[in-house]
Amino acid sequence: MVEEINKVGVVGLGTMGAGIVEVFARAGFTVTGVEIDDAALERGRTHLEKSLAKAVAKGKLTEDEQRAILGRVTFTTSRDDLADAHLAVEAVPERLDIKRSVFADLDRILPPAAILATNTSSLSVTEIAALTSRPGKVIGLHFFNPAPVMRLVEIVTTVVTEPHVRETATQVVTRLGKTPVAVGDRAGFVANALLVPYLNHAVAVYEQGLATREQIDAAITSAAGFPMGPLTLMDLVGLDVLLDVMDVLWDEFRRPRYAAAPLLRRMVAAGLLGRKSGRGFYDYSGADNPAEPEPTAPLAQLVGDGPGQTSLADLLLVPHLNDAARMIGDGYATADDVDTAMRLGCGYPKGLAAMLDERGVKNVTETLAELAAAGLFTDDTAPLLTMLAKQGKDTLRS
Ligand code: 3HC
Repeated sequence: MVEEINKVGVVGLGTMGAGIVEVFARAGFTVTGVEIDDAALERGRTHLEKSLAKAVAKGKLTEDEQRAILGRVTFTTSRDDLADAHLAVEAVPERLDIKRSVFADLDRILPPAAILATNTSSLSVTEIAALTSRPGKVIGLHFFNPAPVMRLVEIVTTVVTEPHVRETATQVVTRLGKTPVAVGDRAGFVANALLVPYLNHAVAVYEQGLATREQIDAAITSAAGFPMGPLTLMDLVGLDVLLDVMDVLWDEFRRPRYAAAPLLRRMVAAGLLGRKSGRGFYDYSGADNPAEPEPTAPLAQLVGDGPGQTSLADLLLVPHLNDAARMIGDGYATADDVDTAMRLGCGYPKGLAAMLDERGVKNVTETLAELAAAGLFTDDTAPLLTMLAKQGKDTLRS
């Protein structure tokens, strides 16, 4: 058992890994960042340095603090340098073959009592744990992008995670100034299982020509107060990451709601991954992003704010609320956990359960039926909503 976690290794210094290094170093941990070669290492180091320099320029960090934080971080291309780490957090690409090599090394190199964590968003933590000789000491620590900003960390335990490993991980997350939400090992965990189908739905709406990308993004930020519209957020997170999540959700749940939009798959195949590749739904290469022309698809008439039309924001939000009700009904997460996850992981002003309760079960079930009748919703109403509606109860928490 690890008495106290002070030395942490972070393996993989892409957007998430570099952000995770920053979070640990800012909280006073000694961090070793590991990458596969010098070029990748340099990218990770630059990411960290730029982020800290921005914080100094904004007056959020003093130069002394910046120096102290950088002084706590060592960069290396040798995993063997993690021999005295108490905890390793893996944030390498989402491919089991790559994870297999990383976890084989971590298992061999770190002391037997050390905790091995994965930041995976689309692979099973149980399968990753099974790659090691210490499955009870493997846990998911799922951070949100941008890691230094988003306050949620999902703590993913498997059926074999040792209780003290979960407790230690919870304490570490709290020391980071983040809020832990404990979740079981299920596709998408809480936040992604709710967020990503909603983002995918926005792609489908866009692909069907029901609205322009600007209309979709503006509808959500203005009507729901979310910090970013869905297509802008997809460009931030990376379309490839989101497609991976959609595919595991489909594998696990096999519901129409979890089928990846064909456009999403094609954009990933074409290398349009979002900000990191210079172009996704928007262009980040410095080119202008002229507003798209009004959609001309015949069904676009169904959507809008006129009489008899479906509001674009309802169209996207009500099925999102239905997903939350399904998850709560499944017993996978409580209404409170759903709300904490979406507020702190995705910056929603209110949680989905709270939004559902405000709108009312009756209104949500009726809207879903209207959307389904118009061919704009192709899944079922969550059994929990159907049950509550039959009982005449209008809120989840009633
Ligand atoms: N690194 C460090 N700090 C950053 C940052 C970054 N990459 N990006 C923004 N910040 C900081 C800024 O410096 C600023 O700090 P300050 O308030 O101390 O000055 C603060 O965050 C707010 O940034 P800005 O004022 O520049 O921008 P916004 O107010 O527009 O906020 C945002 C940006 C925080 C990204 C906000 O738009 C947001 O919350 N968006 C939603 C993000 C989201 O949903 N993330 C989850 C995605 S899903 C995921 O990651 C899971 C994965 O498995 C798929």
